[in-house]
Amino acid sequence: MIEIRKSDKTLAKLLPPVTPRLAVTYIPSQYVLAFEQGEKRYVFNNLTKQCIEGELPSSARAGEGYDDLIRAQFLVPEGKDECAYYNQISSLVRVYNQKKGVRGYTILPTFGCNARCIYCYEEGMKQVTMTLEIVEQTIRYILDTHISDKVKLSWFGGEPLLGVRTIDRICEGMREAELEYKSSMISNGSLINPEIIEKMAGDWHLDHIQISMDGAEPDYKYRKHYRSYEDYYHQVMESVSLMAEAGITVNIRCNVDGENWDRIPAFLDDLNAGISHKEKVGLYFCPLNDVRMSEGDLALWQKIRDVRPLIEAAGFRTTPFLGLGLNFRTNHCMADGGSVVITPDGSLYPCEHCPAESRFGDIWNGVTDEAARREFCRVDCTREKCRKCPFLPDCTSFAACPVQDKHCREVHELMAIDALKRMVQKQESEGGESPIC
Ligand SMILES: C[S@@+](CC[C@H](N)C(=O)[O-])C[C@H]1O[C@@H](n2cnc3c(N)ncnc32)[C@H](O)[C@@H]1O
Ligand code: SF4
Ligand code: SF4
Repeated sequence: MIEIRKSDKTLAKLLPPVTPRLAVTYIPSQYVLAFEQGEKRYVFNNLTKQCIEGELPSSARAGEGYDDLIRAQFLVPEGKDECAYYNQISSLVRVYNQKKGVRGYTILPTFGCNARCIYCYEEGMKQVTMTLEIVEQTIRYILDTHISDKVKLSWFGGEPLLGVRTIDRICEGMREAELEYKSSMISNGSLINPEIIEKMAGDWHLDHIQISMDGAEPDYKYRKHYRSYEDYYHQVMESVSLMAEAGITVNIRCNVDGENWDRIPAFLDDLNAGISHKEKVGLYFCPLNDVRMSEGDLALWQKIRDVRPLIEAAGFRTTPFLGLGLNFRTNHCMADGGSVVITPDGSLYPCEHCPAESRFGDIWNGVTDEAARREFCRVDCTREKCRKCPFLPDCTSFAACPVQDKHCREVHELMAIDALKRMVQKQESEGGESPIC
């Protein structure tokens, strides 16, 4: 076997060795992705994350020259329930990594916002803002429940920068308790100014921010629908440069659909001209949730894949698509990653979408409804359509996730094969292993 990428290190430690058995017919695993690059053929095992050069036989038996492929689980016994096997491995890895307590806190200082994005999934939510009492209790809750040496705080909303005093106070509470902490933020960026950037790089210990934009200027203005507009389009770009200069990693997320896509090249030109320190700035496009759930999802994802060279030519970093990863994923999103979402009224949720039925406690009493959380994050109820899917190890494996792609499998395949080809290309040009990107 010519190995292009080794298998995941944790799995290699945890999984019992496979011994090829006589009288068993082996067939390619459901997790194998085959692809071509140049003249060569490759196979990638999306469970173990190993990639090798070559092809798999459609079936084989022990001793026929394919024992290495059987041991590496590229070939598995015919009839094996690979979904059950994945769920077992997943549980095993979780137990291996398990620690009691909270790993990170996504805090919503307010559900209020100065924009009224025409697509916002929070539309209609009550615009509650944290009271002083809730801010103080949030600090106590964090002090009582954190498990990491460095507490992770993520500021979310509504627009988190409408809650500057809340952020200031919670960070101050961390310092008073002599706790190390770092923070990140998801913001529309319109309220950022030099004074805020000083706070970010200073007392807030903010190392990463995602700024949401909506394409070229006319689309931005129309879609963000600010309550009062002050050339935020250019102001946000200036702020991105200043944050990058201050050492903060910035990711610009541009929400797209069929209506704003045609003007994306103009948007890229504006970003190119308006942003400096691009080495700290990434850009990615994401279809709006409605498009992801519609017939048009695949066509839009194809466009997103194809625009990548333009992003790179403009000098921005690109990010992996849809989480095709190098390592076995122990969690798939914040809901099963040991972090909690704290809403402005002090409720606890597993996910930033805050589905009402998933509320599992509050900052005064901690977990009051473990069943609600468990039900939302249950991994043993893999959706029927996911059971035989090669992308199960990369995907949200629990059924309750509110965001689902209509042609999820095809979309994952499109992005995965693109990422794998780039990996092989990069390796060929540079030599040695390269990350999947
Ligand atoms: C609800 S906003 C809150 C944070 C902040 N106000 C902002 O806009 O970044 C969080 C993220 O959800 C995204 N979002 C909101 N509605 C969406 C939708 N219908 N489809 C896809 N993304 C959406 C926003 O673009 C933003 O990146
Ligand atoms: S800026 Fe964020 S919270 Fe505000 S309306 Fe837009 S997506 Fe929603
Ligand atoms: S959601 Fe779609 S891509 Fe993900 S595991 Fe299920 S079928 Fe596969």
